[in-house]
Formats: sequence, structure tokens, C-alpha cells
Amino acid sequence: MRSALLAILLGVAACAPSNGDAFSSATAQTPTPVQSGEGWGAHGIGDTDFPLDGNGGYDISRYHLKIGYDPATKHLTGLASIEAAATQPLRRFNLDLSGLQVSEVSVAGRPATFARSGDELSVTPAEPLAKGGSFTVTVAYAGTPQPVKDSSNLGTYGFIPTADGAFVTCEPNGAKTWFPANDHPADKARFDFELTVPQGLTALANGELTKKPVTSGGRTTFSWSERHPMVTYLATMTLGKFELREGRTTKGVPNLAAADPKYRATLNGLYTTSGEVTDYWTTVFGPYPFSSTGGVVDDFPAGYALENQTKPMYGGFQPDEAIIAHELAHQWFGNSLSIKRWKDLWLNEGFATYAEWLWSEHKGRASAQTLFDNYYARQPSDAVWAYPPGRAQPRDLFNESVYTRGAMTLHALRKHIGDATFFTLLKTWANDHKYGHVTTPEFIALAEKLSGKELDQFFDAWLFDKGKPAL
Ligand code: TRP
Ligand code: ZN
Repeated sequence: MRSALLAILLGVAACAPSNGDAFSSATAQTPTPVQSGEGWGAHGIGDTDFPLDGNGGYDISRYHLKIGYDPATKHLTGLASIEAAATQPLRRFNLDLSGLQVSEVSVAGRPATFARSGDELSVTPAEPLAKGGSFTVTVAYAGTPQPVKDSSNLGTYGFIPTADGAFVTCEPNGAKTWFPANDHPADKARFDFELTVPQGLTALANGELTKKPVTSGGRTTFSWSERHPMVTYLATMTLGKFELREGRTTKGVPNLAAADPKYRATLNGLYTTSGEVTDYWTTVFGPYPFSSTGGVVDDFPAGYALENQTKPMYGGFQPDEAIIAHELAHQWFGNSLSIKRWKDLWLNEGFATYAEWLWSEHKGRASAQTLFDNYYARQPSDAVWAYPPGRAQPRDLFNESVYTRGAMTLHALRKHIGDATFFTLLKTWANDHKYGHVTTPEFIALAEKLSGKELDQFFDAWLFDKGKPAL
């Protein structure tokens, strides 16, 4: 019942260098921080575990990404138009961008000066921006995207070239490998994509196609739009040869499944199960938050899946029901409700893993109780008890405990407050924070409010303390 992705992530962790000090060396290369009072936007959004991720001083509302990619040359050309609002007076601000060459930047239609340092692109508009003012920054760029490799236990992620295109899965901070971004989940935005690829290939992005693909001069442009707020790590432009199946779920949600020809045999199962799971989760978690559902199986041997908004992606394997249940549960927990800080990752992974247990129970296979009992039976010396999942560690973000002990926390809570309150809690949580941001203290507060119980000790034992919690 374990997701394939965990085995891979844990495998990667085992061979990662143990004493690499990626964060402090990255910090050392950046310019000295300057005071926001001087009108300089911060080079990080304020997540102390990932000090250079995201940026401060503005809030992005929309990305318009016009991108061309040729798998034969691995060359990408991009024009990003980004709409933002200044949250402070800005004489200069940063975007995150990794590799790639920037040729031109403009702000409010006027050429801006820019500089690169590590993965930071700093932009100085011709005129300072006033606090509260909206502005559009456009960045013209090109080059060969390089995915992020072997960093801590995270494996390879970002824009990953494949034999016939690219597999684009960016959690936690790989969006910057293919577009300039405020690359941290604390800043959500709408996305429009115009993706141009050689004729015969399909480019898949989040949301829905806004028009029929247009072919001219041997190249086809796909226009996709994600109309609901989305974090940057969920954005995708996976492309290549794909077979498609399109329709609606039984409850009427548009459903699109895509499979690389090598995985042709999985297309119908992917389509049907994704539809069935999406519809079932609406009965458990509340209305589906987005305008379409589905999934993509590509031939890149990632061995993992990512919950890309509206289109989870499975890399190089036939997804089973459990992993489809997991990735589609993320559409509520992780995608509609997003974390503000990576330390709260259990709010994504613990919930999606518990959803696998709920799916198993729903299908009359092992109950959530049986699955809980199996994990709980692990020896007191087991690693899962040494890693408190309520505080994900930046060097070991996707530790198994964040998934498994996170899910156990939810099951223990269900037992403690009863099924009726627990399932009301799940729906209320999803509804109260739809399209927004969440933190662990907010979840605890809601659980206490709905149950009328004081739960500090309970959550300390399950989420924050080392050691095996007593039942
Ligand atoms: N969030 C993914 C899941 O549990 C796992 C994951 C983490 C991942 N980082 C990734 C997948 C990078 C692909 C790429 O479903
Ligand atoms: Zn997950």
C-alpha cells in the first residue's frame, strides 16, 4: 500500500551526501540583505528553512508564460509577463530564476535594469514602484533548462528533459528552472500558458485549453489557463508524444487523461480511476475546487508522482488506485489549501497519505484502522518515531514520517474525537481555507473548536515530540 514515490525518495535520501551544507553556502554567495525601508524587496519570502526561496516586497496575481521548447536541441525560449502588486515601496525587487539567459526585462512597459546572482534575478525599474501599486514585469529569456539534482533527499525535479519532450514536476522549488517566479508556496497566482512545440507533440499544462491548438510552420501552440490560484511548484509544461482520453466524471467534472505511447495500456484505467476518485473525494472533502481533473503518465523513469494542479503526473510507472487517490486528495490538501511554510508539509502529505487509507477502506480492502495498526506496531526504535512530522526538516523534507506518521496523526485524531466530528472537520477545513493558505496551529484550533476538546497534548505527542505516542 505504500506509494512508489516514497521508496524512491527514501532511496535517494540514503545515497545523498550527509554533510553537504547547501543552505549556508548558498546564503554566503548572495549580496548582503538590505533593509526594506530602502525600497529593496527581500531576496527571500521569509521561510527561514529556505532563505532564498520566493522574494519579498510584492505579491504576484498572474503569470502569463509564452514558452517554446524544442526537444531536439533542448532549447527553451520564454517570455514571462507577470502581474504583481507592490506591498512596500520598491526601487528594486527580485525574482527566482535558475540558469537560462535573460535578454530583456521591462516594468510597466519601460526597460528595466537587471542583474543575476545565483538563482536570484534582481530587477530595478526605471521608476520606483509605490506601495500598493500594481505593475507588470516582463522577462525575455532563453537557454537549456537544468533540473535541480540530488539536493538533500529531494531527487531530481524541475524541468526534466525526456526522450521526446520534458517531464515538468517542480516541488519544492523547481519552477525557477523554467520561468522567473516568486518560487515559494506562500505566493499563489493565476496562470496562463502559451506553449509552442514541434508539430506532433502535445504540451500539457494546468487548467483547461482555452482554444484549439494552432499549428503553423511545423509548430503547434497549446493555450492553457489555470483560473484558480496556484502555487509555483504545481505549474507544469510536460510535453512529448501523448495519447489522450477526454470526457467528464460521472458527477460532471471535465476529465483529461494522457499517456505516453509506451504506457498506452494505462490510459483507460488512469481516466476511469481518476474520475471515480475525484467524485468520491467530493463526498468526503467537499466540492472539487478546480475546473478539471485527470492525470498524465509519462515515460520518464522518475518512479514518483506529483500532484500538479488539475493534472497529477506519474513518472515511468502504471499508477495504482492508491497513488491516484493520494495525488487527487492533494487537489484539496496542498493545492486548494496551501502551506505558507515548508515545515507544515504534513498538512499536504499526511492528509494525502490518510486519503490512501480512506480509499482502501471505501473499497472494502484494509480499513484505515488496520493500516494504522500495522504502522503503529513498529518498534519504538523505528525511525518514524524519531522524526516529529509536524515540523518537516529542510534537509529531509519528504521524510517518511511526514507521510506515514502524519496519516497516523489523523487516524488517531479520528479515534479521539469520533467519526462524525472528524469528517466534519475535514470538510470544514477544506471549505474555510479554499484557495488560501494554512498552518498547523490553525488546524489544531479548528479541531479543538469542533470537538470541544483541549488537544495540545494530543498534537504534541503525535506531531511535535520524539518518541512513540501512547494510545
Ligand atoms: N508531493 C509528491 C507526492 O507525495 C512527492 C514529491 C516531492 C515530488 N517532491 C517532488 C514529486 C518532486 C515529483 C517531483 O505526491
Ligand atoms: Zn503527496
